[in-house]
Order: sequence, then structure tokens, then C-alpha cells
Amino acid sequence: MESRYKTYIYVEQLGNYIGKEVTLRGWVYDRTEKGKLQFIKLRDGTGIVQCVLFKPNVAEDVFERAKSLVQEASFGIRGVVREDARAPGGVEVDIADVWIYHIPPEQYPITPKEHGIEFLMEHRHLWLRSQRQWAILRVRAAVVRAIREFFDANGFVLADSPILTPNACEGTSTLFETEYFDLGKAYLSQSGQLYAEASAMALGRVYTFGPTFRAERSKTRRHLTEFWMVEPEMAFFELDDTMDLAEDLVEHIVQTVLRQCQRELAVLGRDTSKLEKVRRPFYRLSYTEAVEYLQKRGVKLIKKNPDGSESQYDFPWGEDFGAPQEEAIMEQFDKPCIIHRYPAEVKAFYMKRDPSDPRVVLAMDMLAPEGGGEIIGGSQREDDYDRLLERIRAEHLPLDAFQWYLDLRKYGSVPHSGFGLGLERTVKWITGAEHIREVIPFPRMIYRIVP
Ligand code: 4AD
Ligand code: MG
Repeated sequence: MESRYKTYIYVEQLGNYIGKEVTLRGWVYDRTEKGKLQFIKLRDGTGIVQCVLFKPNVAEDVFERAKSLVQEASFGIRGVVREDARAPGGVEVDIADVWIYHIPPEQYPITPKEHGIEFLMEHRHLWLRSQRQWAILRVRAAVVRAIREFFDANGFVLADSPILTPNACEGTSTLFETEYFDLGKAYLSQSGQLYAEASAMALGRVYTFGPTFRAERSKTRRHLTEFWMVEPEMAFFELDDTMDLAEDLVEHIVQTVLRQCQRELAVLGRDTSKLEKVRRPFYRLSYTEAVEYLQKRGVKLIKKNPDGSESQYDFPWGEDFGAPQEEAIMEQFDKPCIIHRYPAEVKAFYMKRDPSDPRVVLAMDMLAPEGGGEIIGGSQREDDYDRLLERIRAEHLPLDAFQWYLDLRKYGSVPHSGFGLGLERTVKWITGAEHIREVIPFPRMIYRIVP
């Protein structure tokens, strides 16, 4: 589609305007002076370009005016684009005119020197303007684009699940609760899955993509209380089909980011050779095989005693993996690994038992390499009415709230499966960000809700 705003040109397009006069608008990233020259780095959201102001080339007042351009002042320039192999992006702009939108009355709080993380988090609304944050948010946008592209191109229909819900999906201990008029309590959705199952029975293959909420008490580098999840759900898919789909999706995301985000990954200093390797087939291990590996390697389970001391155990079959176990398993792998068939006790009520081993459910988690941790959780769903009812009862879930969900097993029940990919976990892994708080514009965590 042709843009109606032809006169406005962005930094990322300057390569197409060599020798031409352009108008740019943005913020001062940096300004230095040397005699008759001023060098102003203009940041416009698409990139940064150095603009050169040479006193003899402009009116007297223009040169003086430009001297007030402190860090993050907003301004515009008119000038001619010049090729310059030494400049980042390969171009510079020779300024013919400068005008000002706003000069900050105080010094911008985030200077190029080091700041503590608490200070940066309190200034998140400004921190977003920094190069690294810019790069991360652009990769995040590319990941979202790649996800939508993948599902839209493969016959899936977008069917979004509600956020306000009357029931829990992923356990009752992490629910955010609110009063819902005269109808009692409502909860912020932990996962769109249950509704996606209903949509899949109507539309075949669907995905829901939106914010999800968990009142997680955990203060780790991978937990947010509000995070985005994409959840495909497929009628007639069994566990193996679902693992294949998860591999295809993750390969597509990573390879798309590699194609589209070279600049951003360079700003982040990301070792892209590791991402290049993310191609099918990934590794797969059953939970039982993974436990055998941990036992062989002598990776212990550490548990806190009631008195606060810790005890170590040989890793027992039946325990869930924590971060130390996941890391130990992933040490051997240079691309993601799917772990499947977990003990029923550690997984959710809706998962289908493995007919060939009733101790385990047809579950799958995908773990990312390089300390990425769990990026996907999914399963084949219990499709038998009586067994599902039994599970709901065993977990003491409110039967009333799940009646509609049971209906899906009453009217034309079919084998079906799906998974949830955590957007922020995925972006954290791909960008190499150390902490999940950097990969969402305004993170929500147990100790932070401002800004
Ligand atoms: O493994 P989880 O809990 O699975 C579900 O919610 C299923 N109902 C999904 C489905 O089958 N449709 O969560 C899925 C993913 C995790 O693998 C992780 O990537 C992410 O969501 N996730 C979190 N991300 C950030 N902060 C948290 N507190 C997260 N909890 C889960
Ligand atoms: Mg999980």
C-alpha cells in the first residue's frame, strides 16, 4: 500500500535517498561540537543517524539554535543524505535547517553512564528509549509477527479467549481475583486453553494470543505476573502431531528473527551462530529418560526442610523438574529439547493419560538451550467425559464452573491437543536478555506495578 505521508522519511530508509534532500524528526541521542561543526545524532524510532551541521552552510541563528539541543530534546532537520562508509548505517546527513519541538528543562535522567537496575526500572517509561531496549522491543514485535504469520499461513483461525473467567485453568494457587458485579468472583485468565478447546471444536485448528496472568510468588528471572501466550489448539491432533507443530513454530520464529532483525541482534551482541542451529529436528526425551540422565549425572534434588535447612536426594522419578534440573538436561544440547510424558501428579487436570503407561500423561514441555528454560507447555487433552469428571472432582475444582468444559466431551468428543508458547520466555531466549523484565514494555512482577 502506498503511504500518504510521502514527505516524511525515516532513518531506516535513508539508504534509498543518497544525494537527496530529506526531512527527519526525532530526539537527540547525542550532540558534540568542534569549532564550526556540530554532530547531532538523531534518533527517530527506526534508527540513529549522525547529522552534521557546518556553520558556513546555514543561517547564523540555525547554528546557535542547535546548541540548545541537549540529550532527548525533540527536533527536526532538513538536509542532504550523503554516503559514508564509516558511519553506522552507511549514511550521514548534511544539515541545511534545524527546528526545535521541545528542549527538556532538566537534564535527562538516563545518561550514558551505568545506572542501577532499580533506577532503570523506576524510569522504565524513559529507559525504553535506550538502544538495547529499542532492539529488544523490535525483536519482540518480529516474534509476534512471525507467530501470527505461521498460524495464519497454516490454516489456523484466530479465536481469542476471554481474559475475565469464572474458573481456573492452571491450578488455583496463582489466581488474580476480582468482584464481578452480582455474579460473584471472576479471575484473570491464567491460560486461554479451555476456551480454545471449545473454539477448536467449532473451527478445527485455532489459536488464541493474548495476555495471561499468574499471581506467581516466585521472584525469578523468568516469571512475570502478566505475560503473553500464544496457544494453538487442534482437533484430531495427538501428542506427536503437536510436538511436530511446536518444532515447526519455533524454527519459523527463530529463522524469521535471524532474517529480519540482524541490526537488532547486533546491537544486543547476540551470538547468532547459536540461533542458526535452531532447525528441525529438535531433541526429544521422555520424562523417564530425562530422570535417568539426571541420576546418571548425579544431579540432586534439593528440598527445604521445615526448620529451614536443606536436604539433598538422588533425583526421584515422580518429582517435577526445577530450573537446576532443566539446566542440567539442556547442557548437552545446542538446540531446543522437548520433554514428554510427565508423571500425572505434577501436571494439570485436563491432560490425557498415556494409554500405554497410566503413570504418565501425554504432556510436552519445550526447553530452550543457552539457559532459556521452558518456553512451551502443552499436552493432548483428556477427551473422555467420565475420566475428566473424575479428575475435576479429584482436584476439588468447582464442578459448576466446568460444566461447559465437560460439554465438549459430551457432544462429539475427539482427540485433541494444543500448547502454550510464552512470548516473553521466547524473546528472552532469542535476545539473550538476562532477565524477563526487559522483554516486555512495562513488566508486571510481584514487587513492581509502576510505571
Ligand atoms: O506450561 P504452562 O503453564 O501451560 C499452560 O498454561 C497451558 N494451558 C498451555 C496450553 O496447553 N494451551 O504455560 C505455558 C507457557 C510456559 O511454557 C512459559 O513459556 C509461559 O507460558 N509462562 C510464563 N511466562 C512468564 N511468566 C510466567 N509466570 C509464566 N508462566 C508460564
Ligand atoms: Mg509449564
